[in-house]
Amino acid sequence: MTVLVGVISQKGGVSKSTLARLIAREYAAAGWDVKIADLDISQGTSTDWKQRREVNNIQPQIAVEQFRTVAQALKHADVYDIVILDGAPHSTQSSLEIARASDLVVLPTGLSLDDLKPSVLLAHELVNAKIATDKIIFVLCRVGDRENEIEEARSYIRKAGYDTVAGSIPEKTAYRQASDNGRALSEVTFPTLKQRAEQVVQGIIDLLSEQEE
Ligand SMILES: Nc1ncnc2c1ncn2[C@@H]1O[C@H](COP(=O)(O)OP(=O)(O)OP(=O)(O)O)[C@@H](O)[C@H]1O
Ligand SMILES: [Mg+2]
Repeated sequence: MTVLVGVISQKGGVSKSTLARLIAREYAAAGWDVKIADLDISQGTSTDWKQRREVNNIQPQIAVEQFRTVAQALKHADVYDIVILDGAPHSTQSSLEIARASDLVVLPTGLSLDDLKPSVLLAHELVNAKIATDKIIFVLCRVGDRENEIEEARSYIRKAGYDTVAGSIPEKTAYRQASDNGRALSEVTFPTLKQRAEQVVQGIIDLLSEQEE
């Protein structure tokens, strides 16, 4: 059975594609046959990232393909061990379709109320549409260096009824540069940043392997 992971948000630029690539990279490095389904047809940023990755000859190679619809992505999914559905912003309908198809739905969010509120509202919409709450996981992204701000955001999400993965992804130039060079967040050279990316993705991997048991 192909494992399906959806990465979605209502807002743009919250790190969906960044997380999709991180998850894809870790599974690819573990020898899984991985594909990122880039559903952001108007931007295709993960498709561009894959080209930068190829130009810079970064291993392991990661397959990325653009799909116009979730249904089309699913039609091509069964030859892979895992497919990461990299969602488009501002499309509740497509987000819902991704969530329905996915074994785990990853919701990246920033720490401000402007980010948290729409993220929680999207999760509520998923639950209203009968998506199981334990399939939904939040990831705190583009965080600053104030631990209390991070914990407040975590508790906001918990109070709304959802879990966050342990750890968080800080906003860092090194991550941006890595991405510009076709690398995933876990492929940065700074050990602390590499560790933070690995902690977050390990939380996602653990949830997926718990489901398989
Ligand atoms: N932790 C971070 N530190 C620095 N830059 C980041 C970080 N996370 C994301 N970025 C940068 O922010 C931009 C938006 O990130 P990304 O493309 O992952 O978001 P997205 O949610 O997929 O956006 P969209 O809604 O447009 O698809 C990218 O240029 C990315 O490199
Ligand atoms: Mg994107």
